[in-house]
Amino acid sequence: MDLQSAEKRVNELKRLLTQYGYEYYVLDKPTVPDAEYDKLLQELLAFEEQFPQLKSEDSPTQRVGGAVLEQFDKVEHRIPMLSLGNAFNEQDLRDFDRRIRQAVGDEFSYVCELKIDGLAVSLRYEDGLFIQGATRGDGTIGEDITANLKTIKAIPLRLTENISIEVRGEAYMPKRSFEALNEKRKERGEELFANPRNAAAGSLRQLDPKIAASRKLDVFLYGIGNPEELDIVSHSAGLDYLDQLGFKTNNERKKCATIEDVIKFISGWTEKRPHLPYEIDGIVIKVDSLEQQAELGTTAKSPRWAIAYKFPAEEVVTTLLDIELSVGRTGVVTPTAILEPVKVAGTTVQRASLHNEDLIREKDIKLGDKVIVKKAGDIIPEVVNVLADQRTGEEVDFHMPTHCPECESELVRLEGEVALRCINPKCPAQIREGLIHFVSRDAMNIEGLGEKVIGQLFAEKLITDVADIYKLTREQLLALERMGEKSVANLLAAIEASKGNSLEKLLFGLGIRHVGAKAAKTLAQEFGTMEKLSSATKDELIAINEIGDKMADSIVSFFEQEGASELIQELVAAGVSMEYKGAKPVSAAESDSFFAGKTVVLTGKLERLTRNEAKEKIEALGGNVAGSVSKKTHLVIAGEDAGSKLTKAQELGIEVWDEEKLIEVLN
Ligand code: IVH
Repeated sequence: MDLQSAEKRVNELKRLLTQYGYEYYVLDKPTVPDAEYDKLLQELLAFEEQFPQLKSEDSPTQRVGGAVLEQFDKVEHRIPMLSLGNAFNEQDLRDFDRRIRQAVGDEFSYVCELKIDGLAVSLRYEDGLFIQGATRGDGTIGEDITANLKTIKAIPLRLTENISIEVRGEAYMPKRSFEALNEKRKERGEELFANPRNAAAGSLRQLDPKIAASRKLDVFLYGIGNPEELDIVSHSAGLDYLDQLGFKTNNERKKCATIEDVIKFISGWTEKRPHLPYEIDGIVIKVDSLEQQAELGTTAKSPRWAIAYKFPAEEVVTTLLDIELSVGRTGVVTPTAILEPVKVAGTTVQRASLHNEDLIREKDIKLGDKVIVKKAGDIIPEVVNVLADQRTGEEVDFHMPTHCPECESELVRLEGEVALRCINPKCPAQIREGLIHFVSRDAMNIEGLGEKVIGQLFAEKLITDVADIYKLTREQLLALERMGEKSVANLLAAIEASKGNSLEKLLFGLGIRHVGAKAAKTLAQEFGTMEKLSSATKDELIAINEIGDKMADSIVSFFEQEGASELIQELVAAGVSMEYKGAKPVSAAESDSFFAGKTVVLTGKLERLTRNEAKEKIEALGGNVAGSVSKKTHLVIAGEDAGSKLTKAQELGIEVWDEEKLIEVLN
């Protein structure tokens, strides 16, 4: 075939495939069998192979996932991508309504939309051609994920009009694709995604677009970045225009004249939500008129003309099977609820911290009770309350022990504390937990020496204090369960490497009461060497900003206690560095960043970054990473199974992000 006839056929194929794809993926009304579509696609691919000059950006063949990228480029959003303020109840909604009325009067209407639980994306088209797609990032700068977005069939590669437009929406993974994906991962022994949102975000952050192509993602567009350039007067007209251009918008939107109608819409969807084929986490309410939107304006973070109503956390009933006690590094005995496994907000929950005895009394929790469980902030499992009217009489009162479950010494309740503590300094549980702390990432960071290995070494009495770690031999380690030549070699190398750590890691690792990672760093910076610090007086310590009375006392008594100087001498003899190796001063670029001058607390288990990596990145951008949540905290990053720090942050109204959000902003 000659080039001219080929071009004609190629154009025809592109037109047909685009139309069939639109009918299938956007309208959800296929008009031809899949086999027909595939046949035409193969034909087009063959033409493009034979006549590469006929390949084009908007060809349906471009969706299969092209070359692997080295990294995602940064994209500056010309129009910032804001987020939304939240409403959690009717009162919040009525307050929102009142604010709107005060600003624009009574003549206005709302548009309610489903709040899709996925990942915000921005799509740019020039002269009708899709040229760039990006993540939200920090709202100003996102990542270029064009190659991955092209694999989403509902995203048009060419619009029905040759216009330039920037549209925003939510990329998501439908429930069925999510289940199928996890099923496959389970078969292959791979880690499962916790929920469709993580799966969607994980897929779009892959450098190999073939992965995104295999993941069956979808999209709903809900806004136009530059509506005024396009003569659009209302949000609802904007959505209709998006439909006209070939975009996929969500049909379940409704114009509401009053806040009463909004509340009705919300309660309807609270019921119907489980039947949707995709996850939603709330309802978005927007003032329709763009003129009124402009009048209302935005705050630094979010528009005043819109709000997100968030559905309450899912609550489920399960049985409290047992209460397990554990002794922490500082001797605190913590009760944990062991639950009949139950699915809550996408993951299986079988444990929940009960924090302390007071809480158990307050909630009147008995063993065998039916209990209501939810995930606070949709992350940490929590026992909400007990269904006392469902008791059978078989339930048993729970009492905290009077003696340490590990060493049997008497437990005490220190003044002003709700916690029960074991104060036996030789308590094996405390020593073991102290060893685990010593090797942890923020402390000496000895990879390969996790809880299990420490547990074994401790049980076999191969290590009794932290200095013993540096005396471990290859033979001793080889004798442990599941330790081969390779892992032993790696572990010994990690132990060796930890000797060169800067002083703050050792200081933190020693577990001096009240000295968190942040204070350890300050101390290391101020004193420079262990020797100087160990001979510091209380007054010298208090003179340092950030070091209070309690901490100063604790540091002095740590160095005075029996065995402390011997332990340090042993570490010195083993070759462990006792010096601060210096951190660089904050540069101008860092002080411009979002994190500059902000205090951030990391809590829970992070999956994609190690704690340390997260900390280093935040610090490199001028942020401070603190160990505990207080009024001075600006932001809390909560991973899986985050605990009391998250609860406290919520109580104090501090902003909480998940790991995905952190990574987005860091990038
Ligand atoms: S409007 C200016 N509408 O919810 C604010 N957002 O913080 C533009 N989302 O990550 C957002 N469904 O991606 C809007 N129908 C919807 C939405 C929606 C989901 C997401 C959005 C953002 C978050 C709001």
